[in-house]
Amino acid sequence: MENPRGDKITIPLLLARKASGPKIVCLTAYDYPTAKILDEAGVDLILVGDSLGMVVLGYANTVPVTMDEMIHHTRAVSRAAQRALVVGDMPYFSFHLSADETIRNASRFLKEGGAAAVKIEGASQKRLKLVEAMVEAEIPVMGHVGLTPQSIHHLGRYRVKGTGAEEGRRIVADAANLEKAGAFAVVLESVPVEIAEAVTRTLKVPTIGIGAGPVCDGQVLVFHDMMGYSTGYMPKFVRKYADLHEVMSGAVEAYSRDVREGRFPDDATSYHLKPDVAAEVARSKGRSPKGSTKR
Ligand code: KIV
Repeated sequence: MENPRGDKITIPLLLARKASGPKIVCLTAYDYPTAKILDEAGVDLILVGDSLGMVVLGYANTVPVTMDEMIHHTRAVSRAAQRALVVGDMPYFSFHLSADETIRNASRFLKEGGAAAVKIEGASQKRLKLVEAMVEAEIPVMGHVGLTPQSIHHLGRYRVKGTGAEEGRRIVADAANLEKAGAFAVVLESVPVEIAEAVTRTLKVPTIGIGAGPVCDGQVLVFHDMMGYSTGYMPKFVRKYADLHEVMSGAVEAYSRDVREGRFPDDATSYHLKPDVAAEVARSKGRSPKGSTKR
């Protein structure tokens, strides 16, 4: 049956977008209703990011996020995604011990989570070998370089990466190595436009930018940030397309006032008996229902 939302997004289709466009649209989602909105709006890639930990689960950073949490949310997102390609984010310590464990964890995103690919942060020699091993196991992999939030304890704070010549060159080389290892796309997070441009020009696979300027082959933002649902610190690269926090706070305050002041529920939001049943109930008031014994 034809998909009413258009052709299903596949990895070959994303690769073709590098040459012919249009740009790849990616957003994060962590639940069914949000993923349904994204899918219906024509978003190409839905990333179940480990940003889940911060924007949904209330952790201070992404480090505590577990595989089970990621799979739980990936399943919900996949149920909604008819057209978009779903990518599951490998959480911290799901790919740090051995290739076997990495492949086992990555395969859970496909087998249990219904995702079509996984994303992994970093591009050390060991990571590149893991990317090769996952690709060999038929698991499509998206790389992620620049700012890698799982390294927060090394970094001390989230910051722009690649501002110096040496670090910039490293990012370009890392992205190229990820492509060589078999990654089908590379996320560039918080890097100067010039570095994103060099990577995008060098790679045959698409680059997906977040805080990497307009040159990338696609863009991703965290849904809660761009919707104004998150509060607190917001990186410079976020553009707020709505103010959900304000809208939702206003609605909750209005509901609270209505309950306290007796305006909710009203007649329109209440159930009523049919008149004959109401009359029967009125007549039988005080009588015990058939079969029951009065206490
Ligand atoms: O976890 C996440 O949402 C991400 C994106 C910011 C790329 O990794």
